[in-house]
Amino acid sequence: MSRLNVNIDHIATIRQARRTNEPNPVAAAVICELAGANGITTHLRSDRRHIQDYDLIALKQVVITHLNVEMAATDEMVAIATSVKPDAVTLVPESPQEITTEGGLDVIAHQQAIQSAIKKLTQAGIFVSLFVDPDPKQIKASAKLGAFQVEICTAQYAHLNEQPGDPTVRRTKQIENEAERIRTAAKTAVRAGIKVAAGHGLTYRNVAHIARIAEIEEFNIGHNIIARAALVGLDQAVREMIAAIRLAQTK
Ligand code: PXP
Repeated sequence: MSRLNVNIDHIATIRQARRTNEPNPVAAAVICELAGANGITTHLRSDRRHIQDYDLIALKQVVITHLNVEMAATDEMVAIATSVKPDAVTLVPESPQEITTEGGLDVIAHQQAIQSAIKKLTQAGIFVSLFVDPDPKQIKASAKLGAFQVEICTAQYAHLNEQPGDPTVRRTKQIENEAERIRTAAKTAVRAGIKVAAGHGLTYRNVAHIARIAEIEEFNIGHNIIARAALVGLDQAVREMIAAIRLAQTK
């Protein structure tokens, strides 16, 4: 059975909308853990648009499951991570204008910076995951650079699934092809000796297909859970996502 890490960034997005002190991402992390989440994921962005440095310090003290921090492979971020020491760091690409992370890292083009970050983080006892597109070349390069895990970007799969409009004209063939690309990428990672996670854009509606890929051990899901939580409560929203993943894996 795979693990679910809940990304709580959007709790901080609501707080930052008013530059106040609520809702508190640490309280959200505790609720997610009580609802059965296996870990908490959070992205400390260079522009600090949601999670702040003090959140990270507080999360490190309070999270008892697993704390995964997404960040760019910059000196500033690596220094923060090696000081706070979360359980895991996921290196992601970051660009200032993006609404959210737009795709995987180009591990081949940025080998030096990524390898240096992996080395420093690993020496600090932090498990390093690289967020990459479902591209076997990127996955083999990640293994060569010494990553412990890759997180396969499911954004394209999610995008194909979540087209608005008539569900009967959903792009079934394209969705199947993209799921196959993710499956092949996951198998490539396992053959290269590294662990596999997946995330980005996954929802209650589209997670099942990806949850059936046995090689994927971890899911990082945020927006959809927090969006649902706004309407039904965070405890229920987390339990529903765990149930959706489990149902796919027991069928
Ligand atoms: N994984 C990574 C590497 C991400 O950057 C994000 C978004 O912060 C997620 C997973 C979660 O994506 P979503 O919020 O679309 O579930």
